Amino acid sequence: MACRMTSNTCLLSFSTPPIKSNKGRTSSPAKVSMVDTVTQVKTVEKLLSAIHKKNKPVTQSMPREKREIFDNLEPWMRENILPFLKPVEKCWQPQDFLPEPSTEGFYDQVQEIRLRAKELPDEYFVCLVGDMVTEEALPTYQTLINNSDGIRDLTNCSPTGWAIWTRGWTAEENRHGDLLNKYLYLSGRVDMKMIEKTVQYLIGFGMNVMVENNPYKGFLYTSFQERATFISHGNTASLAKKYGDVNLAQICGTIASDEKRHENAYSKIVEKLFEVDPDYTILAFADMMQKRIVMPAHLMYDGCDNNLFEHFSLVAQRTGIYTAKDYADVLEFLVARWKVANLTGLSSEGKKAQEYLCTLGPRIRRLEDWSQNHVYREKETIPFSWIYGREVQL
Ligand SMILES: [Fe+2]
Ligand SMILES: [Fe+2]
Repeated sequence: MACRMTSNTCLLSFSTPPIKSNKGRTSSPAKVSMVDTVTQVKTVEKLLSAIHKKNKPVTQSMPREKREIFDNLEPWMRENILPFLKPVEKCWQPQDFLPEPSTEGFYDQVQEIRLRAKELPDEYFVCLVGDMVTEEALPTYQTLINNSDGIRDLTNCSPTGWAIWTRGWTAEENRHGDLLNKYLYLSGRVDMKMIEKTVQYLIGFGMNVMVENNPYKGFLYTSFQERATFISHGNTASLAKKYGDVNLAQICGTIASDEKRHENAYSKIVEKLFEVDPDYTILAFADMMQKRIVMPAHLMYDGCDNNLFEHFSLVAQRTGIYTAKDYADVLEFLVARWKVANLTGLSSEGKKAQEYLCTLGPRIRRLEDWSQNHVYREKETIPFSWIYGREVQL
């Protein structure tokens, strides 16, 4: 497929060109030489140094004494947060939504999936793949939480409430990528090898979401992200239904309801932090929003498109699966959920942060309306390796 760059500012502009196989699809070389390995290491180093230059990561920003807050919240979180985890025996599993390989009807059921998938447009698959790739980078998200001071799982099987939550949440989340991955494989519509490469690149690159090993910022981030994924999976469900694929709508809707439950847990933790430490929590919230909430898959790369995340985001925006309006909606929802406007007894800095947060939603919306009305966007199409290089409008 043709590779195209649309921006000079891309962090990944030093990638090596892809190799074309005789089937016209992009593939990796069969043998990986030492030179390739050295190139790859240099690629990662260059990427990281570009990220650091743009947004220097800060570590350990939470004062040490605040760790005690999380120790003290341990009994509260066991009683109020752990119940958000569902017992494994009551959880759905990907296999509940997929053809059973041991039955005779397996091939017919696969055929049905493929027939229904034919009714879905390419742009839909670009969004579904982007969502799936984001889910599949789960190791990065568990690492993020386990890098947070005061709540990390110190032994990988720690019995603290925080550690039990993180492992349980990860185990529940793991089903999302599994289910979407298997569905996409069976659909016959997407280039699995390119998608698998994208997942490997993404996990290898990590992410820079600027939460600074700070659990206040970490929980604000996860609250925001769980709601964002709830919206995004909910919209892929609605669109699947619109295109007549009720089965896929059920898959996406089921994942969305998990995200909602997780959002409820994380936002309840932040609600508690507002109760016990309002000033520090509101400053952390304002800081996160000033830097903007960076999407977890912002370093997405398929070995070919240097602006893959930007392109995926533009398709998601145009199809209505996740838009700038949704971003403002999430912010305003959380500001209302945590009753930010009603907080009292704040320091002068805290009051400034309060005013900033309470007026930010309308400002984002005004900016969005302005850009919709004033920025002329050429009707540009871009090839996506995930769908064998077929072009999709941005
Ligand atoms: Fe998920
Ligand atoms: Fe999630």
